[in-house]
Amino acid sequence: MKNFLLAPSILSADFARLGEDTKKVIDSGGDWIHFDVMDNHYVPNLTMGPMILKSLRNYKITAPIDVHLMTKPVDNLIPKFAQAGANFITFHPESTDHVDRTLNLIKEHGCKAGLAFNPSTSLNFLDYVIDKLDVILLMSVNPGFGNQSFLPSTFNKLREVRKRIDLHTSDIFLQVDGGVKLENISEIAFSGANVFVVGSGIFDHPDYQKIIKKIRQELKCSNFKSLH
Ligand code: DX5
Ligand code: ZN
Repeated sequence: MKNFLLAPSILSADFARLGEDTKKVIDSGGDWIHFDVMDNHYVPNLTMGPMILKSLRNYKITAPIDVHLMTKPVDNLIPKFAQAGANFITFHPESTDHVDRTLNLIKEHGCKAGLAFNPSTSLNFLDYVIDKLDVILLMSVNPGFGNQSFLPSTFNKLREVRKRIDLHTSDIFLQVDGGVKLENISEIAFSGANVFVVGSGIFDHPDYQKIIKKIRQELKCSNFKSLH
């Protein structure tokens, strides 16, 4: 049985009750917390910094926190997010002049490292750094906002990255981010993803436990389909 992980994106949570809502989504069955950092420069939106992550840790959120940096530059923020309690830090190759150096910086600060690909970003960025990656994140929307529609071009890209990961000796999470819903998650899983960022697809639902259970059921079916 493949191991699928759900990473609810708190970009769609209720920011006036962020601690409570984050706890609720983990208690309802979320695996990681996906923490979207936007700077109104690399992307046209502004969200959360390390202080907010620290507050979630103080609120006793113990689940892995997966920081997705949509900022430019990124290096100055990495030590701050690591100290605040991040487990994973993922960035976009266009947002730094030295991808390899930034990956090293994340590792030096004790976090797992990820590289994020916009819909139009070439996978060539993987060629010389795949050994250093714990996560490959494929954006299935243009970054900046929740609740956008999944871009179908992601399916082929997922298959391509899955091939590269399977040729590799160590395991790398293949994460998909943007427009992932109950209705399309099994096809996304079938194309090779194993970590699913879901924002509005969970938080816009009145009962997190119920929707997460349904999503997991869909994922089980995709496992079944892949065996037959
Ligand atoms: C978009 C963010 C996503 C977003 C996904 O820039 O990186 O994580 O929150 O939201 P949904 O699932 O609503 O598309
Ligand atoms: Zn994200």
